[in-house]
Amino acid sequence: MQRSWHVAIIMDGNGRWARARGLPRVAGHRQGAKAVRRVVEAAPELGITTLTLYAFSSDNWRRPAAEVQALMELLERYLNQECERCLEHGVRVNVIGRRDRLAPRVVKAIRRAETMTAKASRLRLRLAVDYSARHAICAAARLVPRSGRLTEESFSRLLNRAIHSVPPAPDVDLLIRTSGERRISDFLLWEIAYAEFVFAERLWPDFGEADLERAMADFLQRDRRFGRVLEDAV
Ligand code: FPP
Repeated sequence: MQRSWHVAIIMDGNGRWARARGLPRVAGHRQGAKAVRRVVEAAPELGITTLTLYAFSSDNWRRPAAEVQALMELLERYLNQECERCLEHGVRVNVIGRRDRLAPRVVKAIRRAETMTAKASRLRLRLAVDYSARHAICAAARLVPRSGRLTEESFSRLLNRAIHSVPPAPDVDLLIRTSGERRISDFLLWEIAYAEFVFAERLWPDFGEADLERAMADFLQRDRRFGRVLEDAV
């Protein structure tokens, strides 16, 4: 049985978690960063070898400036402070998305984390920052004229290159969204062509190892047919 899964997560519900406690939204994001650590550490035992987390969508720039700044600071701190811990756990960090609109200090933290963890191989952690799948597909399409024969495989490679996903990541096997919402929100549109979806009720700051385990158990029970019929139905 395959034990090398690519799981992607839309981490949703930070704001509601904070509101329920009478706290500012940023407190929810801070707690959300702790959930990131829990999930990253639990993932390898569950056969997950690539984990892609939606940390900041290109549409998130439309949030209040103070919230955007707090999210960027959290991200920068995570990249700077968690590197050692990531290395200890064999986690290779990679940030996917646009870099041209990020502050130079955030780009510096990204480069440092990617370089420091480049040789780790237990888990590939891709953090999606200033990420939009539609923008990524357009950026990859712009590379097509200079890249020879176009196939679905070659386009996937261009897409990875366009979002700084080096080396290229495989397609997504399982997409999880937390907080009871059931939307894709411009996340990995090309890469989820054959993904299974799990929509968890839990708010992201409360999400932990048991929730990830439950989502994986649900996923492992599914018949993934990729357009074929089941063997015993032939
Ligand atoms: C969605 O919840 C969450 C985000 C837009 C940001 C996700 C960020 C983190 C989990 C923390 C930082 C990440 C890292 C990698 C350190 P929301 O604010 O839309 O929640 P709501 O729908 O309840 O308002």
